[in-house]
Amino acid sequence: MTVSMRAGYQGTGPGPITPDGCAVELYARLPVGDEPDIVAGAVPKGARLLELGCGAGRMTHPLVERGFAVTAVDESQDMLDRVRGARTVRSAIEALDLGERFDVVMLASFLVHAGDPDVRRGLLRTCVRHLAEGGCVLFQREGEDWHERVPRERVDPAGFTVRLVSAEPVGDGVNSVRARYVFPDATWTQTFLSRPLTREQFEGALAEAGLRVDRYLTEDRTWVRAVAGPGPGEAGER
Ligand SMILES: C[S@@+](CC[C@H](N)C(=O)[O-])C[C@H]1O[C@@H](n2cnc3c(N)ncnc32)[C@H](O)[C@@H]1O
Repeated sequence: MTVSMRAGYQGTGPGPITPDGCAVELYARLPVGDEPDIVAGAVPKGARLLELGCGAGRMTHPLVERGFAVTAVDESQDMLDRVRGARTVRSAIEALDLGERFDVVMLASFLVHAGDPDVRRGLLRTCVRHLAEGGCVLFQREGEDWHERVPRERVDPAGFTVRLVSAEPVGDGVNSVRARYVFPDATWTQTFLSRPLTREQFEGALAEAGLRVDRYLTEDRTWVRAVAGPGPGEAGER
């Protein structure tokens, strides 16, 4: 499978770069935070979990350690080569059709903010296509003011700095976002397209795909548990 860069996405720095501009060596280094605990707290123990856009396994590995049976999907073979303990599948998420259903489908890393609405619809259709009855989809979305508080910088205790350099409008409600990761021995940048979504817009996109928010898992509402079914606005119309 040959994959070329996605339009509007770019990355610089040592090692291979994925079509959406992520540096494989960077993602293999980035430490995981409380994400696996958030996931583990929202789903049944030992669930079958489909992780979409797994990267180098930053979240996959702690989820496997917690006893989840993870199928990890990414379009980058360089990323998948770093994943251990999970079944790996190389595919564009939009095109994925495993003919199987999972207790949990996870679309993290803000992928739901895809600049192209057709790509976003494709991602959401894949979530629904692989969702078992009674299962849930976990989303990680951006904080609602993330594109306004730019530039900003965070020094990570692990010894690197991440700087959100700019978020420039490129039309149709989409921003071109540039991030820079500075380590003592290397620097990586990623430029990507992101469509900010208000809570209403996010919930509307889910409803269009046949999903509804079950609950927000974090105070900042960036982690979301969704299930199959009509959104609150549609419930009375059926
Ligand atoms: C920002 S990285 C995050 C990786 C991992 N979720 C993490 O948190 O460390 C995004 C990953 O998703 C993959 N990706 C992005 N869009 C994709 C798509 N449409 N289909 C398949 N993989 C995709 C990229 O190749 C990359 O490995």
